[in-house]
Parts: sequence; C-alpha cells; structure tokens
Amino acid sequence: MRLVLGIGGGIAAYKTPDLVRRLRERGHEVRCVLTANGSRLVAKDALATVSGAAVRDSLWHEGGIEHIDLPRWAEGLVVAPATADLLGKFAHGLADDLLTTLFLALEPAKPVWLCPAMNTVMWEKPQVQANLRLLTERGARSIGPVGGNLACGETGMGAMSDPTAIAQAIG
Ligand SMILES: Cc1cc2nc3c(=O)[nH]c(=O)nc-3n(C[C@H](O)[C@H](O)[C@H](O)COP(=O)(O)O)c2cc1C
Repeated sequence: MRLVLGIGGGIAAYKTPDLVRRLRERGHEVRCVLTANGSRLVAKDALATVSGAAVRDSLWHEGGIEHIDLPRWAEGLVVAPATADLLGKFAHGLADDLLTTLFLALEPAKPVWLCPAMNTVMWEKPQVQANLRLLTERGARSIGPVGGNLACGETGMGAMSDPTAIAQAIG
C-alpha cells in the first residue's frame, strides 16, 4: 500500500525511522511528512534514507501542491506519533500546516491510523479523549498507546506502540 507517514512533535518521533523500515518490510511504500515540531525530534535525512523518498515538511514547495498531491498518491495515512495537538487539529478541521491540511484533503474512504503518544496526564485529559473519540467515530483507527516508562520520567499509559506492532496492525 502507498502510505503517507505523518510525524508529529512527540518524543516517540525518534522511533519513526524504524517504523518506516518495518512498514517497508511488509511491502508498503512510505513517504514521510514531518511537522515543524516533529523535525526537532527526528532527522529528516534519516527518514529520507530509510524511506527512499523525499521528506516533506512544509506546505510551501516550489512547483508542487503537496497537500493535494500527497493525499491523492496515498492509499492510507499513518500518523505516528499522533500528538495531543494533532488529535485536536484533526478532530476540529484545523489546517495550518502540511500534515493537518493533507489530512483534510484525504478522501474519506482511505484508511487513517492514529498512533497517539503523550504524557499520561495529557492522555487522560477529557479533551484529548474526546478528540480521539470524535476521530474514531468518523472512521480513523487508533493503535495504542501502551503503558510503560515514558520519556518524561513517569510510568503509565501514553507510550507509542512499538513500530513492529504498528506495522502489524496496519497489515
Ligand atoms: C521534548 C518534547 C517532547 C514532547 N513530546 C510530546 C509527546 O510525546 N506527545 C505530545 O502530545 N506532545 C509532546 N510534546 C509537545 C508538542 O511538541 C507540542 O504540543 C506541539 O505543539 C505538537 O506539535 P505537532 O502538531 O507538530 O505535533 C513534546 C514537547 C517537547 C519539547
């Protein structure tokens, strides 16, 4: 399947080159889209190398309309890590960067997998839960999070699912 992998500004972004590899092992073609915050946490060059494709991180790309072309090309969208911010924007139709805009431009029949990851207190906030519920009621599939030791030093729910588990869930 042709997949766009959207990478948000969560610490689990550092696991996404591995996720790209796991998806490609299963025969998927992957193009990565980084948010501005995501680009602080994982190297664009690493993603370009493991995906074998250019990484997009801006709406503004000379000679292309990436927020329309990428969702046309894609047969599905994976968002990992899906931050609290992205869940809120997706749920409420905000579109202020490439990833949030292409989410809106993706045809509704195409599958969306969200892999939330955040601090436990953030994860348990009613707003975050309500945003995710809204998205899953509208057809998005949620993978994780799982419990574990979080980067913030807490132990609890909120860790991004393991890349192998995410790739398996996508199929
Ligand atoms: C080091 C660091 C790690 C972060 N990890 C997370 C995280 O795991 N999950 C999350 O929802 N936000 C996390 N944040 C906060 C997000 O980066 C922030 O809410 C940002 O607006 C998300 O932007 P995005 O739309 O690009 O994902 C983190 C921030 C920093 C500085």
